[in-house]
Amino acid sequence: MSKVVEIFEVGPRDGLQNEKTNINTADKIKLIDALSECGIKKIEVSSFVSSKWIPQLADAKYVFENITRNSSVKYTALTPNMKGLNAAKSANVDEVAVFAAASETFSKKNINCSIEESFERFYPLIFEALRQNIPVRGYISCITDCPYEGKIEPSAVLKVASKLLKLGCYQISLGDTIGLSNPSSLGRLYDSLLSEVSPLGLAGHFHDTNGKALENIGLSLDKGLRTFDSSVGGLGGCPYAPGSKGNVATEKVIGFVESKGYQTEVSTDKLREVSDFAKSLVSC
Ligand code: HMG
Ligand code: MG
Repeated sequence: MSKVVEIFEVGPRDGLQNEKTNINTADKIKLIDALSECGIKKIEVSSFVSSKWIPQLADAKYVFENITRNSSVKYTALTPNMKGLNAAKSANVDEVAVFAAASETFSKKNINCSIEESFERFYPLIFEALRQNIPVRGYISCITDCPYEGKIEPSAVLKVASKLLKLGCYQISLGDTIGLSNPSSLGRLYDSLLSEVSPLGLAGHFHDTNGKALENIGLSLDKGLRTFDSSVGGLGGCPYAPGSKGNVATEKVIGFVESKGYQTEVSTDKLREVSDFAKSLVSC
């Protein structure tokens, strides 16, 4: 199997969305431009969501319009509905992502609808994006644990993943939203998921609340996954998941996978400087 690991940098979106102090738009642009020079191929820049729900990312359009694009990088954004997709298209987003959940309560809290209703919004969005050759990624939150419902059954994740793949998502990012997954619960999930889905169609998205993210990535590598989401400097957390902390830090993931003999093509020297800058932007 391939020894190349793809880093999907989500710091500018997941890392900043929950930050209470208003971060200067110019600083966000500086962060994304600096990340673009590190050798990372995918950067999740922002979200086209309601600014009432996520005020920190209300400047998504302006950020997209003012970053300096590196032709080796795909610049992506979250889009929950057609309104989001239309805004993303007018900002020339390279790739979009829909975000579903395996927990009904989390779905309600995060996007104000049930899982089934979320698919009503995703059908036209994914259809239209693919018609315009915009790739669509699918997130699933609460893959093993939910802040409201506790343990989540692997069958609930498999159901949502199968639907997203059938609709045309090229990859499913498995969100350990509150960082409670561990190799045992994740192992049970993979036993179920990998019976139907190729590991190359999956990505790991681990928040590092409990310090288990690297162990979870180790297991995921063994199972054949080769894409991991991370935030430079370990920034982040989901505003609708109480207690959720940052994504695992990009620099930690790179150090870990390289120690296991994988390559990422990311310059760790450049990334270290970006990490210092990222941490200087946030309050804690
Ligand atoms: P709603 O209130 O049900 O939507 O919110 P609505 O359709 O009834 O519209 C209400 C208002 O929102 C209207 O404006 C719409 O125009 C506006 P008003 O008439 O009141 O002025 N609106 C929008 N504005 C901008 N962009 C849009 C949009 N859609 C409607 N796309 C909605 C539904 C989905 C919009 C809302 O719940 C929302 O924006 N939620 C976003 C939540 C979010 O971004 N959460 C964090 C990301 S997910 C995450 O972090 C997890 C992840 O990292 C994986 C993991 O770790 O698990 C991905
Ligand atoms: Mg997340």
